[in-house]
Amino acid sequence: MSRNVVILGATSAIAQAVARQCAARGDRLLLVARNAGKLEALRKSLENLSSHPPACVESDLTDVSSHPELIRKVGAAFTTIDFALVAHGILGDQETLEKDIKTALKILDANFVSAFSLLTLLANQMEPQKCGCLAAISSVAGDRIRRSLYVYGTTKGALNLFLEGLRLRLSPLGVRVLTIKPGFVDSPMTAHLKKNRLFASPDRVAADILQAVDRGREELYTPWFWKWIMRIICLLPRFIFTRLPL
Ligand SMILES: NC(=O)c1ccc[n+]([C@@H]2O[C@H](COP(=O)([O-])OP(=O)(O)OC[C@H]3O[C@@H](n4cnc5c(N)ncnc54)[C@H](OP(=O)(O)O)[C@@H]3O)[C@@H](O)[C@H]2O)c1
Repeated sequence: MSRNVVILGATSAIAQAVARQCAARGDRLLLVARNAGKLEALRKSLENLSSHPPACVESDLTDVSSHPELIRKVGAAFTTIDFALVAHGILGDQETLEKDIKTALKILDANFVSAFSLLTLLANQMEPQKCGCLAAISSVAGDRIRRSLYVYGTTKGALNLFLEGLRLRLSPLGVRVLTIKPGFVDSPMTAHLKKNRLFASPDRVAADILQAVDRGREELYTPWFWKWIMRIICLLPRFIFTRLPL
């Protein structure tokens, strides 16, 4: 069955993999991203995968004043949204973020404030339809704050709480809310990091996301082993946790 899928932050490596897998199964896509060149390249790469040409909208997602119009466009394109994914985000350099409040606030805007605004507007759009899945890519970094990543972790932890609130509101009405928590993913965001066996490919993460949507899940750790890693990390007493080189 062909679904109506909206992806915000569609040029992210994970989002592009989701878009490819959705196109391959015949879904209708609306892709939103800030970089016109990357968006066009993505649109072209999807042309041969699906008989439905994807619709594309260029938008800087931290411009919250443009969000109501953006979501109006989504509503005009799709009377029912089967799956909406908020994927954009910035990692930032922790040391810089500690010293430079302007840059730190940009991370907060990109990872939380803009997601809060888009998810609220999408929730209002999807509530009356009483079906569909509203999802956002958070991170395992939001489960327990680490010294080395506490600014990014704070933004993702706040996103987790907000998604939990949206779930309490929408789930009784038939709209599912999915919190996606990837571990390390081999994407431009982690290009500077040395890779190891814990890193997953965007394709693997995308396949997990679509399976979680199809199964009606509310929370996804991807790959699966992060659920157990994070469970242990969250259970560690503070005096042990603070001694770990994290
Ligand atoms: N990679 C990981 O290890 C990892 C782990 C856990 C969670 N995540 C989360 O997964 C999501 C996707 O990240 P990724 O790994 O796919 O990395 P990525 O390829 O670097 O994607 C990040 C995307 O965010 C977009 N973006 C940032 N600010 C934006 C804005 N103001 N307006 C529109 N788009 C904006 C970027 O747009 P441009 O293409 O224009 O630069 C980029 O496409 C993020 O939310 C990230 O926090 C990643």
